[in-house]
Amino acid sequence: MANLKVINFIKGFLRNPFAVGSVVPSSKFLATAILKNIDFSKLKVVVEYGPGTGVFTKHLLDSSSKSKTQVRVIEFSGDFVEFLTKRFPTNQFNIVIKQDRAANVKNIMASPEERVDVVISSLPFTFFPWDETEATIRATFDVLETGGIFRTYLYVHTLPLPKIQRLLALLKDVFGNVDSWICVANIPPAIVIECQKKT
Ligand SMILES: C[S@@+](CC[C@H](N)C(=O)[O-])C[C@H]1O[C@@H](n2cnc3c(N)ncnc32)[C@H](O)[C@@H]1O
Repeated sequence: MANLKVINFIKGFLRNPFAVGSVVPSSKFLATAILKNIDFSKLKVVVEYGPGTGVFTKHLLDSSSKSKTQVRVIEFSGDFVEFLTKRFPTNQFNIVIKQDRAANVKNIMASPEERVDVVISSLPFTFFPWDETEATIRATFDVLETGGIFRTYLYVHTLPLPKIQRLLALLKDVFGNVDSWICVANIPPAIVIECQKKT
């Protein structure tokens, strides 16, 4: 299964390199880093953007109780959606898999009033047009519960890029706070970014 995941990921990269944004899936260390200190016992709805072959999805499902927490994933690539649907069948996991763009996160809500506790993102913002980055961040803020958390990761070498600096400024502007921690055990090394919706 491990090889199958990597092979499918590389195939996805070759088909659409700018949308996938990385040649290999994230490491289990990055999965641990992006989910650190999340109290899953309190979560009702978790949304993941850009699950790919599901390295974070697996950790999300393993960490949460099937009866209490629903994991909803939004993936742009039809090939990855097909892979995820086979890997995480809905008769075994409390999961909703939707093929869409993360900016349309409102479409995955059960009602206009429903809110999300945590959003985990793997989106390759480096390759996003700015309008889509902005729409995604604002839509994420809107669907989060007060106190809810948004986490994404950025590759360390992309931090100086003007687009990434602009993203960090946008996060600070929209959420009013940005925290971060590094994960060197990933190819390439990454930094996890966290924002909390305080009001
Ligand atoms: C860098 S890969 C990360 C995959 C996996 N989460 C990991 O960490 O190994 C980025 C993923 O985001 C997906 N993606 C790109 N743009 C997207 C968008 N606008 N909405 C949802 N998914 C998107 C890609 O198809 C790909 O699966």
